[in-house]
Amino acid sequence: MIETKKILLTGANGLLGQKVAELFRHETSHELILTDLHENAFEPRGFDYFPLDITRKEDVKDAFKKYTPSVIINCAAYTNVDGCETERELSWKVNVDAVKHFIIASRVNSAKIVHISTDYIFDGKSGNYSETSKPNPISYYGKSKLAAENALITSGVDFTIVRTMVLYGTGRNLRPNFVTWLVNMLAEKNSVRIVDDQFGMPTIVDDLGWGLVKIVNMGKSGIYNICGSEYLSRYEFAVKIAGVFRLNENFIVPVKTGDLNQAAPRPMNSSFILLKAQTDLGIKPLNVTEGLSLLKIQLGL
Ligand SMILES: NC(=O)c1ccc[n+]([C@@H]2O[C@H](COP(=O)([O-])OP(=O)(O)OC[C@H]3O[C@@H](n4cnc5c(N)ncnc54)[C@H](OP(=O)(O)O)[C@@H]3O)[C@@H](O)[C@H]2O)c1
Repeated sequence: MIETKKILLTGANGLLGQKVAELFRHETSHELILTDLHENAFEPRGFDYFPLDITRKEDVKDAFKKYTPSVIINCAAYTNVDGCETERELSWKVNVDAVKHFIIASRVNSAKIVHISTDYIFDGKSGNYSETSKPNPISYYGKSKLAAENALITSGVDFTIVRTMVLYGTGRNLRPNFVTWLVNMLAEKNSVRIVDDQFGMPTIVDDLGWGLVKIVNMGKSGIYNICGSEYLSRYEFAVKIAGVFRLNENFIVPVKTGDLNQAAPRPMNSSFILLKAQTDLGIKPLNVTEGLSLLKIQLGL
């Protein structure tokens, strides 16, 4: 018998947040309260939704007082990796200070914090990262996400940190992610330059969402890696996208990371060991072709 919980979900308008809202609402009996920076972007009626800027300490406190959640799932973040290099103050406020606000508010309610983190806390030199591997972020985004992890780990509150990478999926009024961007570019016969020297494990949001359902239902704490099950270069990923969506892969031009002049350095080899999530949570993340095929159905293509 799963105990019914009152869950506050931040970042509910985002790529992951929308999927988490959908899965918790339709697949669990938990009570869900949704919030994000702006008005509800994906439901016309917007029930159980209120706007909240999580960088505002007093507003966070008030929200906890009013809604008394027993769990907060934090899907909100400043996620523009290159933007973090220039908007350092704002990105730190969203990615670190807000998590500290949650910690303070959680102490009053004894609420558990489920927080989403990233492979960018690692330098990407060796890959094969487990939950106990030593972080060494090389970008400001990675530094901010690691600082939030450390705040949680040393806080004394009940927490779960879920690390993931290269999320893709669909929802309403979302910014494009790598897959939806590439599908649009190739469909319009645009040539795209994609790096063949950055490697990772792309993750359909559904797999991460299900992992979060399991974590909440099973009351799991600590750190978990959850990502897709296949390791490949961004170029190989792009070619698979073209294949599944029946688009012309000849428009995809392989380039090197150095050719792109990205503001933030990227971890070049990011792979997670998924054993803990597989054994503890019983999840079996999809490979790239399976994930893309699911997305294709969701997009009605
Ligand atoms: N996407 C990836 O590939 C990836 C990889 C690894 C880890 N992650 C992590 O996964 C989590 C979810 O990522 P995502 O891709 O779903 O992100 P997303 O689509 O960018 O959603 C994040 C949401 O947070 C909101 N937000 C920003 N500032 C806020 C504030 N001050 N107060 C309240 N809400 C605020 C954003 O609103 P606006 O859009 O209006 O700013 C957005 O709706 C994040 O923790 C991210 O770091 C993502």
